[in-house]
Amino acid sequence: MEKVHAELYKEALKDPENFPIKDWYLCPICGYTVADEPPERRPVCGAKEEKFSKAA
Ligand SMILES: [Fe+2]
Repeated sequence: MEKVHAELYKEALKDPENFPIKDWYLCPICGYTVADEPPERRPVCGAKEEKFSKAA
């Protein structure tokens, strides 16, 4: 998970003005974070989409 976060952070730092991702979704169960559209099921913990909470 931390690897994913690190990559997203690096991407954001490259071009903070035009960082294309606006919506973030965070799984409160496992901490899985996904940009733009949440998948139907969490790849990590298998929870359903409604469990996702939208982050800033
Ligand atoms: Fe999860």
